[in-house]
Amino acid sequence: MASMFAPFPERVRLLDAGAGAGALTAAVVKRICNDSYGVRSIDATLYEIDPSIRETLLETMQDCQRACEAAGVEFTFTIHNIDFIRELSARLAGDLFGAAPPTFNVAIANPPYRKINSDSPERRALRSLGVETSNLYTGFIALIQRLLAPGGQLVGITPRSFCNGPYFRPFREDFLSQLELRRLHVFESRKAAFRADSVLQENIIFHAVKGRHQPREMTVSSSSGEQGDDITETVFPFAEIVHPHDAERFIHIPSTTGHATAKETMDGLSASLASLGVTVSTGRVVDFRLKDSLRKEPEIGTVPLLYPCHFNGGTVHWPKLEARKPNAILDNAETRPWLVPSGMYLLTKRFTSKEERRRLVA
Ligand SMILES: C[S@@+](CC[C@H](N)C(=O)[O-])C[C@H]1O[C@@H](n2cnc3c(N)ncnc32)[C@H](O)[C@@H]1O
Repeated sequence: MASMFAPFPERVRLLDAGAGAGALTAAVVKRICNDSYGVRSIDATLYEIDPSIRETLLETMQDCQRACEAAGVEFTFTIHNIDFIRELSARLAGDLFGAAPPTFNVAIANPPYRKINSDSPERRALRSLGVETSNLYTGFIALIQRLLAPGGQLVGITPRSFCNGPYFRPFREDFLSQLELRRLHVFESRKAAFRADSVLQENIIFHAVKGRHQPREMTVSSSSGEQGDDITETVFPFAEIVHPHDAERFIHIPSTTGHATAKETMDGLSASLASLGVTVSTGRVVDFRLKDSLRKEPEIGTVPLLYPCHFNGGTVHWPKLEARKPNAILDNAETRPWLVPSGMYLLTKRFTSKEERRRLVA
C-alpha cells in the first residue's frame, strides 16, 4: 500500500485513521526512509479508539521516529485516542467551536468494517455532514476524503462492497466526485488477505487523489493475496471502470486474468437485444399475491406455471407433481395481466449461490 503513493510531498502531513498498532504508518515511514523521495518531514496524526493497543501504537511511532532520525527525515506524531467518526464529523460540521479540522496531504487507511444502523451515533454524526452510509468503513473514507488537501493522496484497503449495490450509491457519488481514482488492486482469493482473522472478505486496495478530474486510464492490478505473490497489472480506460453514463456509478473491477477474454467475447456480440427483436422480462407472477389461483396440478381453466424447480439440464420439465411448488395457475380476469401469451420464450434462471458452476442457466 505504501508503494502506491506517488510522488510524496516534501512535507508529509500523514493521516492514519483506525491506526491499530501503526503498521500502515510504519510502512509509509519505511518507504520514505529507504528512498527519501525528497521528503524532509513527516507529521503523522493517528486515530485509534482501542485503549488496549495504545502502548503498542506508541512504541511503533517511537520506532518510526528512530528510523526517520537515521534517515535524516524530521518526524513528529500525535496519537488521538478518540472516536474518529464522532470527533471529525463534529469538527467538519463546525460544531466544535474554534477547532478547525486538520488537513492532510497523505492518508493511509485500513478502516474498521461494521454495519451502522440508521439511528446509531456514528450514522447521526455522519449525517450531520450530509454523509449517508451504512458501514463504518465508508464513513471513515468519506471523512478522510474531506480532510485531504487538493492533490492529497489516499491509499485504502477496504471491502469491495462499495463498488456496487444500491446502498453504496450515495457514497460512490461522493467518492467519485471528490477523488480521482488512480489505481485499484484486487485480491483473487477472498480468504488470503485476512486469513489469520478468519475473515472471508473480498478486499480491494485503491489509490486516489483529491481532485475532480478522473484520469483517462487507470491501472488495475491483481494478486492472489498470498505473501510474496506476483502482481499482474493492466491499464484500462477509465470509462470501462466507471461507465460515463451510469447513474449508479458502479465501479467495475475487471479481474485482470479473466477480463480480457470476456471482453473479447462481448465485443464479438455487437447486436442489441432490441435489434434482434427480443425483449426481456422477469417472471411476472407474484405467487403469494395470487395464492387462491395457484393449483398443485393442471386442470381445466389453468395454464402452466413454471418455477426454478421446473428447470433441469437445459430444458423445462413440466409438470412436476412431486415438487412442493404449484404447477398451474388459473387463467381468469385476476391473473390474466400476469400471464404471457403463448409463444416462443427462452427462460433463464439465475443462481445466487456461489457454489454453482454456472450462475446463469438457460
Ligand atoms: C481494521 S483495523 C486496522 C488497524 C491498522 N490500521 C492495520 O491496518 O493494521 C481498524 C482499527 O480501527 C480502530 N477503530 C474502530 N473504530 C474506530 C473509531 N471510531 N475511531 C478510531 N479508531 C477506530 C480499531 O480499534 C482497529 O484498530
